[in-house]
Amino acid sequence: MKDFISLHDITTEELHNLLELAIMLKKELKAGIPHPILKGKTLGMIFTKSSTRTRVSFEVGMVQLGGYPLFLSSNDIQLGRGETIHDTAKVLERYLDGIMIRTFAHSDVLELAEEADIPVINALTDLLHPCQVLADLMTAYEHKGKLEGLKLAYVGDGNNMANSLMYGCAKAGLDCAIATPAQYQCDAEVVENAKADAKKSGTSLIITQDPIEAMKDADVVYTDTWVSMGQESEKDEKVKVFGGYQVNKELFAYAKDDAVFMHCLPAYRGFEVTEDVIDGPNSIIFDEAENRLHAQKAVMATLMG
Ligand code: CP
Ligand code: NVA
Repeated sequence: MKDFISLHDITTEELHNLLELAIMLKKELKAGIPHPILKGKTLGMIFTKSSTRTRVSFEVGMVQLGGYPLFLSSNDIQLGRGETIHDTAKVLERYLDGIMIRTFAHSDVLELAEEADIPVINALTDLLHPCQVLADLMTAYEHKGKLEGLKLAYVGDGNNMANSLMYGCAKAGLDCAIATPAQYQCDAEVVENAKADAKKSGTSLIITQDPIEAMKDADVVYTDTWVSMGQESEKDEKVKVFGGYQVNKELFAYAKDDAVFMHCLPAYRGFEVTEDVIDGPNSIIFDEAENRLHAQKAVMATLMG
């Protein structure tokens, strides 16, 4: 594993190793045991989109591992003024031990990883958000005591979260059901790949436009914003289409009684989810947010250690 770009690229064993390491690092942190695995190493963090969780958890995580994080806003580096990804990669690899990048086009991250001799971590593209799903799987495991055999239902936009959840579920042994409106389905190539991954792991992948069908008997219920970063101008149009895809108490009732509610955040209460669900007793959103730290430390320690 040189890079961490998509959960489709890693094996189930590699995924389990990352989850085990994340759980161990979390335990050590809580026990006050230092783990300077990346002492003296430096991570460059390129952001062309906003972030709260990703930026803070990567920065803090790198410090806890004994390394040094460098925040590189695209407004401030020459990449934002048109310097090529190739030249950026070739320069940054001379200074850094790893690069984390959040940007729009997934192809840019693939190109960066191809060109740079150092590890590249995908911290969200328009297509995928694998770091989030790694933390989500860790969180579901902590709450359910297992991953294999669980059913995850995602209701909402067929976006980067839905795409990555399909990959993550197939690799980790969860059945997955995705309900989106017809106009906003998941990426077709990701669906094909995820179906192949699911077939290999013996899990099911249901793609539907019916939120109730997806939600039935779910152990984990997931949603995300209807308006992802970069889609702000589509908000009015999307809100009209997504009305029936809100995760509210009525829809949540189709899941198992002990189902947990998850959301990568930031959330828009009253749109994709109602307050009674996201702030209700089954919601584990802040455990998810915390686990970004531990999961990403496992990724960095594995790739850069
Ligand atoms: N979930 C997530 O990636 O949050 P941020 O956009 O705040 O980083
Ligand atoms: N789908 C959202 C996820 C944010 C963490 C977005 O891309 O904006």
